[in-house]
Amino acid sequence: MSITKQEFARRRKALMALMEPNSIAILPAAKEKLRSRDTDYPYRQDSDFYYLTGFSEPEAVLVLVPEREHGEYVLFCREKNKEKEIWDGYRAGQEGACKQYGADDAFPIDDIDDILPGLIEGRERVYYAMGKDMDFDRHVMAWVNLIRAKVRAGATPPGEFLDLDHFLHDMRLYKSAAEVRLMETAGDISSRAHVRAMKTCAPGRFEYELEAEIQYACTLEGGRRPAYNSIVGGGDNACVLHYVENSAKLKNGDLVLIDAGCEYEYYASDITRTFPVNGKFSREQKAIYNLVLNAQAAAIEKVVPGNHWNEPHDASVRTIVEGLVQLGLLKGRVEKLIEKESYKAFYMHRIGHWLGMDVHDVGDYKVGDEWRVLEPGMVMTVEPGIYVAKDNRKVEAKWRGIGVRIEDDVVVTKDGCRVLTDGAPKTVADIEKLMAGRRKARA
Ligand code: GLY
Ligand code: MN
Ligand code: MN
Repeated sequence: MSITKQEFARRRKALMALMEPNSIAILPAAKEKLRSRDTDYPYRQDSDFYYLTGFSEPEAVLVLVPEREHGEYVLFCREKNKEKEIWDGYRAGQEGACKQYGADDAFPIDDIDDILPGLIEGRERVYYAMGKDMDFDRHVMAWVNLIRAKVRAGATPPGEFLDLDHFLHDMRLYKSAAEVRLMETAGDISSRAHVRAMKTCAPGRFEYELEAEIQYACTLEGGRRPAYNSIVGGGDNACVLHYVENSAKLKNGDLVLIDAGCEYEYYASDITRTFPVNGKFSREQKAIYNLVLNAQAAAIEKVVPGNHWNEPHDASVRTIVEGLVQLGLLKGRVEKLIEKESYKAFYMHRIGHWLGMDVHDVGDYKVGDEWRVLEPGMVMTVEPGIYVAKDNRKVEAKWRGIGVRIEDDVVVTKDGCRVLTDGAPKTVADIEKLMAGRRKARA
């Protein structure tokens, strides 16, 4: 199960249909990145490039030339090379680019400087992701300058440069049925991984051990890359929003917050669960936890087509402020506290973000001055949290150091929404039940 060749072709067609007449689009593959000395980071294709090609090799450039007689979809890629393939792995080559990836025409990447200016020449407009990669910007200008140098010989250079991201990212914001299925699989795999972390958690284990349990469970099911760096924060480490040290020992009586999700076939999942290290919530932990859970439910209820992007956030803020007042962590009138943003001492981030091939996916949150209206096929996270800093002297000591976030992935449907990550338990009763089973199993 993955994106079909036909779907990749439909995407290219859709993009080309949006482009102005007589234009060309140029998109480079992701670069390989050095990790240390002669060792690279694991390679991951650029999401835009993959979205349009399904091609996962580095050193490639995609060119779309609508209505070009010899083919609209041109791929520059590495040549086949027996020696290099023995050392570094398989290459599709130009024949593979056409046969396996549906390119109309393919050329060796080493010939790009000779061939691409010819494809640009005569086109009035060039679409590319301006300013994303200085090196690539320079290349585009060099190709264009080669044409400019030949104007007296009758060459016509393009006069307009347009941002490709605008159209492409709007397309990526709306997920097809196949994309939602992949995201659901990513969500299922990650949900099971969170269950495994709950089942194997115990006082005395280290945060990185839970990170390893998650990674192991995801990899076994084909979710081989984390969609982002896993966060495993025990106790007040949960209050550091992007805590990635994951090196402390988990203590009896503390909560642990795990924000981790795999990528599956280039689609991300993003899940946070918070649970007690010893399997049982304390009274204060339970109070804060249930408040976050209620805020999440209130927000998810607002994920409905026709609502705007900010409505789920506003719902979460209201629930959290009302709850914090009830618990005595905030004092004053709810309306005033919302207006003055007093809740930001406890809830300092927003409700979520678009999710897709990138964890913080592309797509505008505002159109002009207005929040974006939710439409079927959009996928977002819903992840409210409450974090009581350990040095917050304004609240009773019993609350300090408690950090809770609950995060799920949600797709907007025709008449509401569907949670893609509900395989990971999140009510107090369900978590305690699951973890009680674990204690018995160990005894
Ligand atoms: N894990 C990143 C986020 O939740 O946004
Ligand atoms: Mn998130
Ligand atoms: Mn997350």
